[in-house]
This record gives sequence, C-alpha cells and structure tokens, in this order.
Amino acid sequence: MPQDPTASQRYRPPSLTDKGALARLAAIGGVVLAIAVCFANVAGWLSPGRLSQARFIDRFERLNGVHAGFRRNHAKGVCVTGSFESNGHGVRLSKAVVFKPGRVPVVGRVSLSGGYPYLPDGGKDVRALGLSFRPLDGEEWRTAMINIPVFVVKDPKAFYEQLLASHPDPAMGKPDLAKMAAFTAAHPEFAVAMKVITSNPFSSGFANARYNGLNAFRFVNAADVVTPVRWSMVPTEPFAPDTPEQAKSSDKNYLFDDLIARLARGPLQWHLIVTIGQLGDATDDATMSWPGDREHVDVGTLTIDRAETEAPGNCRDINFDPLVLPSGIEPSDDPLLTARSAAYSESFTRREGETKTPSAVQVPVTGKGS
Ligand code: HEM
Repeated sequence: MPQDPTASQRYRPPSLTDKGALARLAAIGGVVLAIAVCFANVAGWLSPGRLSQARFIDRFERLNGVHAGFRRNHAKGVCVTGSFESNGHGVRLSKAVVFKPGRVPVVGRVSLSGGYPYLPDGGKDVRALGLSFRPLDGEEWRTAMINIPVFVVKDPKAFYEQLLASHPDPAMGKPDLAKMAAFTAAHPEFAVAMKVITSNPFSSGFANARYNGLNAFRFVNAADVVTPVRWSMVPTEPFAPDTPEQAKSSDKNYLFDDLIARLARGPLQWHLIVTIGQLGDATDDATMSWPGDREHVDVGTLTIDRAETEAPGNCRDINFDPLVLPSGIEPSDDPLLTARSAAYSESFTRREGETKTPSAVQVPVTGKGS
C-alpha cells in the first residue's frame, strides 16, 4: 500500500523556479487578462467614444435624474395581465408556438415614455404597451410597442443625440431651438418622421390606443420560409382623439386611472395585426412606413382583464427586451433592435439593484381591477 502523503506534501505549492510551473502560471495570467479585456470592451472602457449601453443609460440619467428602482425610460407605468387567443392564421407565417390555435397567458405593462416616474399624465405623452407571451408548452415572446406610427430616428446614435437636443433647456423650460435645428439638419429622417407622427392624433386613453412594434422582424415558418413583418395591437375600443380638456384634469394620473376604472368594469381587447413586407420595404429603418396596401393578417386577440400596482415579481421585474424571441421570430437588420436590447438590459440591471419607491400609479386593492 502506498503511504498517504503528509499534508505539507499534498498541498506543496509549485516552486517558482520550476520552469514548467512558471509557464503554466503565465498561461493562466494570459487567460485572466483576455477575460478582463473582453469585459472591459463590452463595458466600453476601451473605447470611450463608442456608444455603449452604459453611456446610453448615463445620458437618460443625466437628463432625467436617477429615480431609484424605476426604469430609465417609460418610468411611469402599471402592470396588466390577461391572455392571447391565437386564431391560427399566423401559423403559415411563423412556427412560434404562440401562433398555434389556443390561449396563452400574458403579462404586460402599460406606460408613458420618459424618465420621470411621478410626472402628471399628458395628452402628448407617448403611450406604450410591453407584453410577455408565455405559452405553457413553448418559448416566451416579449415585445414593447408604442402608439406612434413610426419611430423618430433610424439608428441608436441619432436617438442618443436626439435625447439631448430635444431635452428642455433648464433656463428656458423648453428645448433649445438652435440645438433642435442642428439635430434636424444632421438627421433629415427626423423631420419626415415627425410629420407622419404629428399628423396622427393621439388617442384619448390607453384603452383605445393602437400600439405599434415599429421595428421589422422576420417570421420563419415550419418550412423555413422567411417573411419580413411588423406588428401592431389594434384596439376594439373605438378611437377618440385626445382633447386639451383632458390634460387639465386635476387627477395627475388621469390616463392610468381611466385604464384602471375601465378594467374594473370589464376586459379590454386588441387584435394582433401582422403586416407583411414586400421586397424593397425598409426593414432597417423604423422611421419609414410601409405602403398602406401591404397584406395585414389578424393572428389573434389580446384580452387584458386585470391591472396591478408595480410590485415585486410582477411586470416591475420584467425587462421587455424586444430580442426575447421564440423560435419562429427573428430580428431583422434594424440597428435599433440590438441597441434597445443592450440599453434595456443596462436599465434593468441598475434599477433591479436599487431600493424601490412606490409607483405613482396605484391600483385600488378592492374591486375587479386589483
Ligand atoms: C435606441 C432606441 C431606444 C432606446 C435606447 C430605448 C431605451 C429604453 C429604455 C432604457 C427603457 C427602459 C427598460 C427597462 O428598464 O426595462 C425602455 C423602455 C421601453 N421602450 Fe424603448 N428605447 C428605444 C427605442 C424604442 C422603440 C423603437 C420602441 C417602440 C417600438 C420602444 C418602446 C419601449 C417601451 C414600450 C418601453 C417600456 C417597456 C416596459 O414597460 O418595461 N423603445 N426603452
């Protein structure tokens, strides 16, 4: 029987004069350095001029302040839950389980754009809907949509610059016209997009708003046929325009409170309309509408039946990252998509690590809406 080595023999460190040991240590050091360089690169430390997700979120924070625990954009919101009933018409376009006929549970968040969680609701605030479809026997699908018909800029750098240019000057209380003019001159697509946006009136509330995905995606069906698409949630509630009187309401949460009151009376519904792109339709530019004669496919109905105050474990702790996609839905070449995914992740990481303050929007604990 071999003798059990003594503890000092077993744990004897390699001698630093041993050439083999030195080479091994150098190799380990090289690997550690390579990993550190990778992390530093991802964090943007090696190229301070690069538009990293950290710089994006720093800009949101510098302009809007840090509101601990809240999203750096779309800070004011309320959670909703319901289901999506697929009618099966999406199966020819995508093999995603969510499009098979049947019902899928949905968790969502209704919000207003902007980084201020306590700002009074306003008629011209962009209304938004984030959704997570959770098929019991398939992969999750997340999407975050807004009520404007096209996006304001076509790439992340332009959005980064626009945040600064359109931010109200503290001395004047409104955006600096000279800065806006310089931004518009550098990004001609902005003026074109704004013309389309301002020619479409905003809805009077969240319930009758149409929510648009704006970025193009690729649907892939069971035969691997790829179709360029965009999608929208179209309300069954009739459209009524926002009026200046509404914004004079003494209720600073009038848009959210109206949604909560409506849900207390009964469910709200939207149709998921998929628009099919054709050759030549821009898939990399969310400022450009597709021609109106493109085929629209109604693939199912979203029913929202409950509102809930943001709280641990509900929509508050979801990152509605537009790149959380099931097999059957793929990103397009739109550069906004990867930038969104990275920025949402940075915002999520920062806010999840912070102490939470209660949301401005509180759903009463009694009644059907709670
Ligand atoms: C480069 C462009 C964009 C940037 C940097 C950006 C940034 C952000 C950030 C930081 C958040 C907060 C994420 C979180 O903490 O969970 C957010 C939320 C949101 N964004 Fe964007 N965004 C961009 C473009 C868009 C576009 C094109 C849309 C619409 C199609 C959109 C719709 C939304 C919605 C609906 C939310 C709220 C989701 C929720 O309730 O959690 N964003 N955005």
